[in-house]
Amino acid sequence: MSAENLAGKWTRKCGRTLLHSLTCLVFLFLDFLDALLCVVFKLVDEFFEGEARTPCYCGNDGENKQMESETLSDSLCMRRNVLRKMGFLGFARKWKMCRKKKDDGDGGVNGGLMVNRWSDCGCNSCVSWTKKGHAHKLHVVVTHLPLVRTEVPTGDEAAENVIFLHGFLSSSSFWTETVFSDLSESCKGHYRLFAVDLLGFGRSPKPNDSMYTLLDHVEMINKSVVSPFQLNSFHLVAHSMGCIIALALAAKYPNLVKSVTLVAPPYFPSAKDGAGTSLTALNKLAGKTLWPPLAFGKSVMSWYEHVGRCFCFLFCRNHRMWEMILKLFTLRRELRFTEVDLTRHTHHSAWHNMHNTICGGATMTDEHLETLNKSRSVKVSIIHGDQDMEVPLECSKNMKMKFPELVQLNIVPNADHISVIFHRARDFAKNLEHIWASSQNPSISNLS
Ligand SMILES: *[C@@H]1O[C@H](CO)[C@@H](O)[C@H](O)[C@H]1NC(C)=O
Ligand SMILES: *[C@@H]1O[C@H](CO)[C@@H](O)[C@H](O)[C@H]1NC(C)=O
Ligand SMILES: *[C@@H]1O[C@H](CO)[C@@H](O)[C@H](O)[C@H]1NC(C)=O
Repeated sequence: MSAENLAGKWTRKCGRTLLHSLTCLVFLFLDFLDALLCVVFKLVDEFFEGEARTPCYCGNDGENKQMESETLSDSLCMRRNVLRKMGFLGFARKWKMCRKKKDDGDGGVNGGLMVNRWSDCGCNSCVSWTKKGHAHKLHVVVTHLPLVRTEVPTGDEAAENVIFLHGFLSSSSFWTETVFSDLSESCKGHYRLFAVDLLGFGRSPKPNDSMYTLLDHVEMINKSVVSPFQLNSFHLVAHSMGCIIALALAAKYPNLVKSVTLVAPPYFPSAKDGAGTSLTALNKLAGKTLWPPLAFGKSVMSWYEHVGRCFCFLFCRNHRMWEMILKLFTLRRELRFTEVDLTRHTHHSAWHNMHNTICGGATMTDEHLETLNKSRSVKVSIIHGDQDMEVPLECSKNMKMKFPELVQLNIVPNADHISVIFHRARDFAKNLEHIWASSQNPSISNLS
């Protein structure tokens, strides 16, 4: 080995050690900052609203773990934090919301969980769902079948339904603004498309007494789409976080679902102990890292509850101001839907969706896949970009490996988490039409 080579190696090693130390330092600082903010938020909550009600998970983890392990993700209470390890956290407020809810039995508006609202946006579009007479349902965009269809003797029965579920910090626009317009005319005539804003995002309700678990999502979709539109069969298409919900939905209605298409599903095989899986999900999806900046932001928002609340206070609460500034700077009249959707949530809804649906839901995905595997009436098609930095391709490969009969994996070269759809919407739409059409004759799998 030449001296030059050796020097290069040494420099790289030094650089790595330095970066590692820096990362440790920054996150140690954030551990302290989060603890400090816990106290600050308690005081400010009390100042504004008389009582600190927003739940926080700074308390001692052993106690919490026993409480509501069924519905709440372990990643909420078992996140690594130096201070918690030393038993320092939780001096400001103990996490007692769930216990309270259990004692009261009903968890109603006054008895159960409530959160402080001063740090959330109260603009008309953000709170429209709380208006009187507004049914507590998700925002659903439905395409209507062309009138011609009704003149066909077979009527609407011949039509099929497709439900689209978006990912984290997104909304129904993710599908309506992209893939919807790329579907062929004949397809649009045959399929009725439903795109929902998931609970806690976009124009959908963001209830302060919900824990945003997988079960909540499935119930809301039943209440907002499946029941009111009396769907007796449907296809599912989901992206990222929506995939976890789609599999839960499919496992609940294995007889109604005709096909499941997952784009970049965050799948983690169940560990022996349940807690392992949700923590693995948290580490893989939002690992503690300083670079790139987006990944750093993601890890801070996912690991630090109170720091995250500060961010939401700055950006979500003041989203109208930021949107104005962005428009001024970019000289655009309209913002892209992806920019707008980024702030359409409350801290309570995003935080709990991240932990209870994404991390906690990961522990249940295997069970749902087994249900589907057993029912043998539906296939799961996965589409995943090989450059995906948000959800590693390894997730889909693992699912394919564990359920080879059930899962069909389509790896898209040179595509990342978003561009796998946005930069090839036409191909993607074609792919979907093919999947829907080929799931037409379930008799094949039933007979075999
Ligand atoms: C929580 O939401 C309910 C309605 O869902 C509302 O009546 C109540 O005022 C909210 N709590 C706070 C603190 O805003
Ligand atoms: C869906 O909702 C309907 C009524 O809204 C209810 O009867 C049905 O049991 C629900 N299905 C599931 C699987 O929860
Ligand atoms: C899936 O189903 C097939 C048969 O339908 C079975 O042989 C296989 O063991 C199942 N896989 C899992 C992981 O349960």
